[in-house]
Amino acid sequence: MLLSSAVRWTAGGLAEAYLMDGSDDEALVMRGRPGLLPGVVPAIELTAVRKLFGPVVAVDGVDLVVNPGEVVAYLGPNGAGKTSTIDMVLGLSHPTSGQVSVFGMAPRHAVRAGLVSAVMQTGGLLKDLTVLETVQYVAALFSGPRPVGEVIERAGLAHITQRRVGKCSGGEQQRLRFALALLPDPGLLVLDEPTQGMDVEGRHEFWEAIRKDAGRGRTVVFATHYLEEADAYADRVVMVRRGRVVADGSPAQVRAMASGRVVRATWPGADTGALGALEGVSSVEVRGSTVLVRSDDTDSVARYLLNQTSARDLEITAQGLEEAFLALTADDPVGAGAGRAGAPS
Ligand SMILES: Nc1ncnc2c1ncn2[C@@H]1O[C@H](COP(=O)(O)OP(=O)(O)OP(=O)(O)O)[C@@H](O)[C@H]1O
Ligand SMILES: [Mg+2]
Repeated sequence: MLLSSAVRWTAGGLAEAYLMDGSDDEALVMRGRPGLLPGVVPAIELTAVRKLFGPVVAVDGVDLVVNPGEVVAYLGPNGAGKTSTIDMVLGLSHPTSGQVSVFGMAPRHAVRAGLVSAVMQTGGLLKDLTVLETVQYVAALFSGPRPVGEVIERAGLAHITQRRVGKCSGGEQQRLRFALALLPDPGLLVLDEPTQGMDVEGRHEFWEAIRKDAGRGRTVVFATHYLEEADAYADRVVMVRRGRVVADGSPAQVRAMASGRVVRATWPGADTGALGALEGVSSVEVRGSTVLVRSDDTDSVARYLLNQTSARDLEITAQGLEEAFLALTADDPVGAGAGRAGAPS
């Protein structure tokens, strides 16, 4: 007899594990919070994934496991391979080699089963419908969707249900896409730069809605260029560069990975070569008449600057997530800002 197993996700992030014996019968063997279930399948599992577009290597051997309930920021410069990876997780494209699974299944199956929803940047909304009508129409496409009123409430749209979509702000339209993504009550929500172009307040409201919802146990993976979003809303930051993972951990751990501090000084015409040659220096960057030196030994850098150069106005600070991002994703870590290709746009 051939036995197989499957895990399903209920509202509120409960996991149900089933065993099947090939007949129509299946037995519920476990039900509980994902963290309490031994051996429950990951929400996303990428194994040695590569994605080539002709000669372009978009994703270059990524291994990644996202566990149920995690909120993960996928962070990286333009062209790092974030969208290419997300497309594979959503079953929109296939890896050139390696494996992608979502809740233990092929991504397409997981999407078809309503386990995964996505909020994309643009498209898909009809301007002449109201917010309520939009949710009602899309709800009609699903079998057994969450109640319309509930998803509207969760996306923070209850006060504008009668507003035409064309009149909604960019942030409100993104919350509407979020509401639609909640209709199948997915275990995994995937967002590709969902707040690009929004003002600070719109972004804040959008993430508040996402965060409240994630508190119910939903797994959330989002790509972003906004470091403060990753810091504020993710439990885990995965930094990618040129198709590879260069850092993976809590925001605090990733900050710490780019160890050392930064010395900032005013020094027009700074001798970047001499600074780069100092012990412990990991990068030197010139911004106008200011020079920024990242180092494990900032005392020596300060001593050198004060005693042997005309540099003044010295400041020594710990690295923030932005510095970690730049240090870890720069193409040329030491050099007069030459590695800025890694800068977020
Ligand atoms: N369909 C395609 N055909 C050819 N090259 C592609 C295709 N899609 C992506 N690429 C290339 O693959 C690389 C990774 O692109 P991807 O869109 O995944 O990056 P990203 O991290 O999402 O960048 P961004 O932050 O700009 O959205 C880039 O060099 C891109 O030009
Ligand atoms: Mg992208």
